[in-house]
Amino acid sequence: MCGIVGYVGQRDATEVLLGGLARLEYRGYDSAGIAVQSERGFAVRKRSGPLPRLVSALAEDPARGTLGIGHTRWATHGAPSDTNAHPHSSEDGQVAIIHNGIIENYLGLRSELESAGHRFASETDSEVLVHLIEDAYRGDLVQAVRGALGRVRGAYALVVAHAAHRSIVAARTVSPLVLGVGAGEMFLASDVPALLPYTRQIVFLHDGDIAEIGESGYAVWALAGAPLQRSAVTVDWTSEAAERGGYPTFMLKEIYEQPAALLNTLGGRLHDESGEVVLELSTDPGRIDRIQIVACGTAYHAGLVGKYQIEQLARIPVEVEVASEYRYREPVVDPRTLVIAISQSGETIDTLEALRQARRGGAQLLAIVNAKGSSITREVGDVLYIHAGPEIGVASTKAYTAQLAAVLLLALWLGRSRGVLDAARGAEVLAELRRLPLLIEQVLQPERVQAVREVATRFASSRNYLFLGRGINAPSALEGALKLKEISYIHAEAYPAGEIKHGPIALVDSELPVFVVATAARLLDKTRSNIQEVAARRGQVIALLSDGDTLGVPVAAELRVPKTAELVSPLVNAIPLQLLAYYSAEALGRDADKPRNLAKSVTVE
Ligand code: M6R
Repeated sequence: MCGIVGYVGQRDATEVLLGGLARLEYRGYDSAGIAVQSERGFAVRKRSGPLPRLVSALAEDPARGTLGIGHTRWATHGAPSDTNAHPHSSEDGQVAIIHNGIIENYLGLRSELESAGHRFASETDSEVLVHLIEDAYRGDLVQAVRGALGRVRGAYALVVAHAAHRSIVAARTVSPLVLGVGAGEMFLASDVPALLPYTRQIVFLHDGDIAEIGESGYAVWALAGAPLQRSAVTVDWTSEAAERGGYPTFMLKEIYEQPAALLNTLGGRLHDESGEVVLELSTDPGRIDRIQIVACGTAYHAGLVGKYQIEQLARIPVEVEVASEYRYREPVVDPRTLVIAISQSGETIDTLEALRQARRGGAQLLAIVNAKGSSITREVGDVLYIHAGPEIGVASTKAYTAQLAAVLLLALWLGRSRGVLDAARGAEVLAELRRLPLLIEQVLQPERVQAVREVATRFASSRNYLFLGRGINAPSALEGALKLKEISYIHAEAYPAGEIKHGPIALVDSELPVFVVATAARLLDKTRSNIQEVAARRGQVIALLSDGDTLGVPVAAELRVPKTAELVSPLVNAIPLQLLAYYSAEALGRDADKPRNLAKSVTVE
């Protein structure tokens, strides 16, 4: 969490930094700050709260220069305040730093530095870094940063500027950091979208790298000192794709981008002639006895759907586990276990560490990821990119449906390669996959969206929601509840519909909206009984049904999606659930792109 930008070149650094921070604000918006190199050291401007407060401060008191660093904060140590905001400066004003991550041994270092006479200005863990660098500096900034980092334990993307150097030094361990290569200028940032207006030539730094950027280029070394070759790759995301494109929020834009995102996920992977799925994976499907999926949040829900898809189509047993739990037990894996990580950002620390845990046990590793070159992709043998394009909204939408499509592709590929899925059944699912972008277009037709918006507005004042689903759509209920909670702050619970009579039905009264995903035709009769149980207790049932299905039970509201195959239905059903959350947040005046307490990429434990 926290967003980082750096620039050295001929442009107005303040403008580049503010533009970059605006594109990184999804990583944290507790405070923002910049330090721009000037003749007399650094002009440092920082403000608590979202970026516009910093912009106003700069309008009153500009900072001019052509080298600078900027930071947008997601607070961990120390409340959001002006003094805790980054950049942090050394006592002599010669060094300025920004940091994303957590310095775990900062308390010990701080008391040691204070005993040696250093005075701290903030409550942050990050500030120890600037004091350590100031102490270690003997004219060589790279060497000073290296010396300081030798003393810290934890996670960092660290960026350091010194008044006497026309270059910026950066280092990373765990927290992400990329360099952007321009003509006579260099950039750095936590994430690619921040740099897209300027360059698409990106260098992905690895764990343990230390880099120096200047107008004439960059150099990278291992922390221990050995020079490293890190070449730039051309990313294919456009700058426009990372902008709002006329939508009021990134989240809404990304909801509407789902047909296009899915076309990208499927593109070139469905082989028309043979009816097969073509995936460029080196994993040998014949060498897998079982699969474990590790992921967090929405990606975890994609994994839960994936369990149904893989078990049905490939007949391989699948366990799905929240990554933060997986890593702290002793999971049983062996070389015939395939551990699959699902992650939009590819930077989620819990997922990354779960993979490392699995690797220690000898498992094969595969990652389903959106962000190219991200940390997770470098940890695994095989990567299945979902190609959803940049996702900026904190609430994951298009990445979720693209993850579902990618797992379904994988399930088909495994099933066919292992000879357990016959061609006819494979072709059936494939045909439905091919229709997917069109189906999602239909769900996004104005009248269907309006119907969801009306329901959202009608129930927006509810204090609680219950979400129910069965079979492959039980995870859809979980995802609907998560989306609603995170952006509207309405409390929501989710259960497999058959489970409510074992407890949750006690919650039902005439005030409670109960959203029931009732599209899976095979289980419609069972779900209908569950709806009746809720309706009999005067619960406000909102039923999500497939076109053409009849419920036959009076409910508070019915929403409709086009009929599709059961294996594909969670993709279609995700859309009204996302819209429900979005319009509930809108009705309550919440900022869907910046939900409180959350950040897009969770790079701390
Ligand atoms: O980048 P990842 O997919 O690894 O992120 C995992 C979760 O942090 C993420 O899905 C989170 O739950 C979203 N805010 C949900 O909308």
